[in-house]
Amino acid sequence: MDLSWLTEKLTKQPSSYQYKTTAMHQHIDDAIHTVQKIATDLRPSILDHLGLSAAIEWQVENFIQQSGLECHLSIPDLAIEIDEQRATAVFRIIQESLTNISRHAHADLVNLDIRFIDNTLTLSITDNGNGMTPLQMNNPEKFGIQGMHERAMHFDGELSIDSCPGKGCTVRLTLPQNSIND
Ligand SMILES: Nc1ncnc2c1ncn2[C@@H]1O[C@H](COP(=O)(O)OP(=O)(O)O)[C@@H](O)[C@H]1O
Ligand SMILES: [Mg+2]
Repeated sequence: MDLSWLTEKLTKQPSSYQYKTTAMHQHIDDAIHTVQKIATDLRPSILDHLGLSAAIEWQVENFIQQSGLECHLSIPDLAIEIDEQRATAVFRIIQESLTNISRHAHADLVNLDIRFIDNTLTLSITDNGNGMTPLQMNNPEKFGIQGMHERAMHFDGELSIDSCPGKGCTVRLTLPQNSIND
């Protein structure tokens, strides 16, 4: 934001100044992407220490504080019995969905529901925001939604997104406790 402010102030300066601020913008964007990538690859330590349910509760609490949105969480009282890799995948899918809601949806209400029935985890995250077109959802230059599909598929799970403009968005995941390749 500071750099954008500076760029604006420099519009009447020689073009070499503007060239410099454009390059600085690019460097900052690159650095942000690198940090995001490293953070995504790291396993969140809260998962190790507290387990999936508590980690999700913590994540939702953070989301509410940062976004100011109303968010209802429904989560089983009993422990969700899935292994560490699957727990990380679920945690990351929720994280990406919530980040998308705060960045793109302009929603005011979010519902997050998790169940664990018949050795299968089901998750749904619904927002009442502005929704998206199929083109936005399948944009090949974006990697957030694509990554969510890949994480689900890796464990023989299924991820679907139900959304259209003006109608909000629902992300659904089903993830079996075990897969054939285990
Ligand atoms: N909950 C949402 N509400 C409205 N639009 C969304 C939502 N989630 C994703 N989108 C749209 O789908 C696009 C692709 O999302 P994603 O792959 O996560 O990329 P990114 O978040 O980096 O833009 C977003 O750019 C946005 O236009
Ligand atoms: Mg995203």
